Amino acid sequence: MNYYSKQAPIILITEMSRFRAHKHDMDSRVFANLPPGSLRVVQVTDPHLHANPSGCLLGLNTLESFDRILDTARTLAPLDMILVTGDLVHDGSPVGYAHLRKRLAALQTPTYCIAGNHDQPAVMRSVVHRGKVQVVTSAQHRGWSLVFLNSTLPDNDGGHLSDQELENLANSLQAHRDKHTLVCLHHHPVPVGSAWMDTMALDNPERFFDIIDQHPQVRGILWGHIHQEFEAERKGVRLIASPSTCIQFAPGQDEFGVDPLPPGLRWLALLPDGRIRTGVQRLAVCPAEIDLRSAGY
Ligand SMILES: [Fe+2]
Repeated sequence: MNYYSKQAPIILITEMSRFRAHKHDMDSRVFANLPPGSLRVVQVTDPHLHANPSGCLLGLNTLESFDRILDTARTLAPLDMILVTGDLVHDGSPVGYAHLRKRLAALQTPTYCIAGNHDQPAVMRSVVHRGKVQVVTSAQHRGWSLVFLNSTLPDNDGGHLSDQELENLANSLQAHRDKHTLVCLHHHPVPVGSAWMDTMALDNPERFFDIIDQHPQVRGILWGHIHQEFEAERKGVRLIASPSTCIQFAPGQDEFGVDPLPPGLRWLALLPDGRIRTGVQRLAVCPAEIDLRSAGY
């Protein structure tokens, strides 16, 4: 990963935030005292739903866990938007997407979905994209622009940004130079310190960051995929990833490892001056006994 060390230092701040997150579990006041005009955002990621409502990952019913997380999101209302950053379903099934869409639509909040490596992007769009639940390339809310990238490859768990996606990114950043910007994708564009997971990172981050570096309005980059909390900073840009709404991966592992931490969501306050306040809220306890010795999922 020489590219990263040559190009820009990445300041890791995950450990401190991991500690803080425990202190603030289930605190509905996280959006209190925001400057007027701030956007109240919730990210839910990697729900891994199945067509079968009883579908589990490592013993955890992913639909029930998703419902519990959406209950938590309701305690943070009113929300300006919800971001769903990939692996919406585990089995690529239209019925799985329908479970997700029904629940997100009930929240009556602008919701933006992007694909993950477990998704079927065309199926996802055909089922999910309707009304306030959208699959789009960008959206603007007040003084902020959000860019949504598809970093998936067919039949491959790793990530890649095609020429088309990179062009979409550049065009959107060019068209909204006056807006603070949050770029969202599924795969991690920097290593997160788990060797097994870093083999499934974005495989062309240099082209991605070349574009980001030309646009100082980019304030943050947000992703899913890693099923764990992560916060860092690169050239003043926040790098943020989040727990899954189902099973968690243990940080700092050479090989696949499960973390017994409960499922969670991330809240983000996008301030009018471009700053981002953010944190993680988890369920008080894990809703099932996870098989911690599993070698995969
Ligand atoms: Fe996932």
